[in-house]
Amino acid sequence: MSTTSSNAERQSPELGSGAWTQGGPELLHRVLLRFNQARFRPALPAGDWEVRVREETELRLLEGRFVEAERAAIAAWAAEAPTDPDAFVAWFQSLEQEGPGQNDPLFPWLATSASLDAMKWFLTQEVAGEAGFDDLVALTQLKLPTQAKLELARNYWDEMGRGREIAMHGPMLEDLARALDLHPTDEGTVWEAHALANLLCALASNRRYALHSVGALGAVELTAPGRAERVNEGLQRLGLDMSVRRYYAVHATLDRKHSAEWNREVLRPLVAEHPEWAHAIAEGALMRLSAGARCFERYRSELGLVLGSA
Ligand SMILES: [Fe+2]
Ligand SMILES: [Fe+2]
Repeated sequence: MSTTSSNAERQSPELGSGAWTQGGPELLHRVLLRFNQARFRPALPAGDWEVRVREETELRLLEGRFVEAERAAIAAWAAEAPTDPDAFVAWFQSLEQEGPGQNDPLFPWLATSASLDAMKWFLTQEVAGEAGFDDLVALTQLKLPTQAKLELARNYWDEMGRGREIAMHGPMLEDLARALDLHPTDEGTVWEAHALANLLCALASNRRYALHSVGALGAVELTAPGRAERVNEGLQRLGLDMSVRRYYAVHATLDRKHSAEWNREVLRPLVAEHPEWAHAIAEGALMRLSAGARCFERYRSELGLVLGSA
């Protein structure tokens, strides 16, 4: 199965000709999405592995150019982040109110006004764009200093339901998708949602962006509770019980604790030991929040939500 699909991918003209450079963001993020699906999938050695490695090099260059463009867009803002550890943590925390996409009108609208169909469309995009926080944390923790590594381990263990399948976070989202009969497809997902997932995968998979990944994941913990709370309210308003809402109900509260611990155990000690890492962490956070803001804007436009009418 996997050999067939990867053969099909390799023979695809869009992968072989460099056509993505003219294909705009839709094609770019479709190509990177497929790359990310394939790169983490357990596989077996193949006779043509050298061809695959060469292809991977090309895709990693494409990925790197995407990340560098996103980085350039927020670099000046990130350069304002202080390098004193306490001041840095305060700056980072201020992103909860002042970061890109924060207090987006999409979320109060989902809480108070969205129809079930609109909510389901939104959730389908979110499910399709979910990169898997557990694996992103696992990839990011490689060779980090001990205090930060231990916090990423605790965070990963929570993602893993502390060893109980029923409490794992990933399957909670799958349960919600099943209960609401959501069927996310690559084609039915807006490119902005794929770009968000592709960004997080790129940061976690390339060690030159390890600190960016630390910042991006910390930004998720910082900002997810406010959004999760609004989505949970909307689901409750639409009559959906806790078994369906659990993923959002859990993240509305647990991520506040995760965020406080990430700031104290990861950000502060890393910046105290390596002040030169502060701007990379800040860039990662701002890239992640900007990618989120781009999704919210597209979602609002697809859902016909006019600013000021929410
Ligand atoms: Fe989680
Ligand atoms: Fe979390």
